[in-house]
Amino acid sequence: MNVLLIGSGGREHALAWALAASPLLTRLYCAPGNGGIAEVAECVTLDIGDHAAVAAFCKAQKIELVVVGPEAPLVAGLADDLRAAGLKTFGPGREAAQLEGSKGFTKDLCARHHIPTARYGRFTDAETAKAYARDQGAPIVVKADGLAAGKGVTVAETLEAAEAAIDACFEGRFGAAGAEVVVEECLVGEEASFFALVDGATALPLATAQDHKRAHDGDRGPNTGGMGATSPAPVMTEEICRRTMDEIIGPTVRGMAEAGMPYQGVLYAGLMITDEGPKLIEYNVRFGDPECQVLMMRLKSDLLPALMATADGVLETFDLRWHDQAALTVVMASQGYPGAYEKGSVIRGLAAAADNPDVEIFHAGTARRDGDVIATGGRVLNVTALGASVQEAQARAYAAIEKIDWPEGFCRSDIGWRAVEREKDAAA
Ligand code: AMP
Ligand code: GLY
Repeated sequence: MNVLLIGSGGREHALAWALAASPLLTRLYCAPGNGGIAEVAECVTLDIGDHAAVAAFCKAQKIELVVVGPEAPLVAGLADDLRAAGLKTFGPGREAAQLEGSKGFTKDLCARHHIPTARYGRFTDAETAKAYARDQGAPIVVKADGLAAGKGVTVAETLEAAEAAIDACFEGRFGAAGAEVVVEECLVGEEASFFALVDGATALPLATAQDHKRAHDGDRGPNTGGMGATSPAPVMTEEICRRTMDEIIGPTVRGMAEAGMPYQGVLYAGLMITDEGPKLIEYNVRFGDPECQVLMMRLKSDLLPALMATADGVLETFDLRWHDQAALTVVMASQGYPGAYEKGSVIRGLAAAADNPDVEIFHAGTARRDGDVIATGGRVLNVTALGASVQEAQARAYAAIEKIDWPEGFCRSDIGWRAVEREKDAAA
């Protein structure tokens, strides 16, 4: 079977790595791919915004499944246009992708179906939004409604900060994404990521994961796309997973089908595990990055038939097996990320670092130049390891990082600390 994967990050390298291991795969193409993906797939240049061009490529190369990695092409309706052209595609259409593309859409769905989430209001002008914030009191959370590359959320400790965030949205800091604003209750608890494959009607939960969003050790510094992740997430006990499926994922899948926009693809729930149980912070319509990297390391089953079964609507009879081992990934980023950073530095020592069957190095922002691997992005490498415990996976990942020679990069030194603390408490 020929497959086209769309995207260029560490998430896509992990997906490509898992797909390449499938005995069902004939050829794997990735558009645009990166320096690491090039080792397991044929990287091709395609204008992803030109849906007809993507469809024409698929017809010419006899592609039997298209897997869309990032959210932007899904929100733009790439999956609808490919399906209309007769191409099997993993990922939601434009309407269902509103679960990530519009926070207000998701909040209203939660309200209609009694899905636990933060209390909220939706606003199209600053004065009414501020009045609501004053009424609720700080701390309070302000969110631009649309896609803002993870930068549209302010957790405001004071009313002044909330009002400044509201003004920033309506003054256009996030462009069209900020034309509407959601103001919501600040939830307290531990965050976790929950993933399920959804085929329109049936949801199949995947392994649990937890990421580290802050740039620096001790969960300090600016928010990023994610500096590392672990799987499983100890806070996601069997009971919390069951409640998440019953109270959040199930009603969402039914609600979307009832609304005439059945959801197909991977559904990623960002959760806060509160004293009252799991509450939805937000949905994403794609795999998390870097959570996908740890999930792919733990997946024992073949990924390709799982994605096919999702696209074919036959998940009801499907099952997935997972390795019992823990997985952990550490993101190596360019110095300065998530702010400004230099591109083009050379990374050495990757082969030696990956010389361990329990370690995989996924590339997030690299290219090949004259035989060298060079950094081309903010997040650049995901050094990923399996271990009998999170502690062992953590030790293996950091031992591999020791062998990587890249002075222009940095990483956090405490990825997995929550899970490691729990392991130590359990052993004590
Ligand atoms: P989001 O882009 O919606 O995932 O928000 C980014 C981050 O902001 C989340 O990962 C949380 O850490 C935080 N956040 C968002 N909404 C809330 C909320 N209602 N209460 C507490 N923290 C939140
Ligand atoms: N790791 C967070 C995200 O993918 O949005």
